[in-house]
Amino acid sequence: MFRKEELVKRAFEAQKHAYAPYSGFQVGAALLAEDGSVYEGCNIENASYGASNCAERTAFFRAVYEGKRKFSAIAVVGKAENAEAYEYCPPCGICRQVMAEFCDPENFEIILAKDEEDYCSYKLGELLPLGFTGKNMEEEK
Ligand code: THU
Repeated sequence: MFRKEELVKRAFEAQKHAYAPYSGFQVGAALLAEDGSVYEGCNIENASYGASNCAERTAFFRAVYEGKRKFSAIAVVGKAENAEAYEYCPPCGICRQVMAEFCDPENFEIILAKDEEDYCSYKLGELLPLGFTGKNMEEEK
């Protein structure tokens, strides 16, 4: 079993790759696939702000490209570059929706960390209750 502390550590590693010249808010994420592999992601901003991508989605898109479809957990860390202390950095609504495409709301864990010892975790279903997924478009038989 992958330790949460280890996944948090990988999120801090990922944060070093952040490209955030506009907001100055650097985010890192580490996504654990069910097979035990880990995919790191950072936020990647753009001069056209709406073209920016969050750390969580970077991690998901890297993993899906590599053929992964099943995931157990994601750790997220984020901080403004001038801020001294870390606060928990909860995923935005778009990232929660991307998680809902691939993850079981009752089992997938979202770990928010200030450091390797100080973290909290939520199930996806707690952060995205009544989420819309492909199941909602299935015809009733
Ligand atoms: N951001 C993330 O990458 N993940 C989050 O969970 C929250 C927000 C990024 C988007 C943008 O580059 C910057 O943080 C400020 O919103």
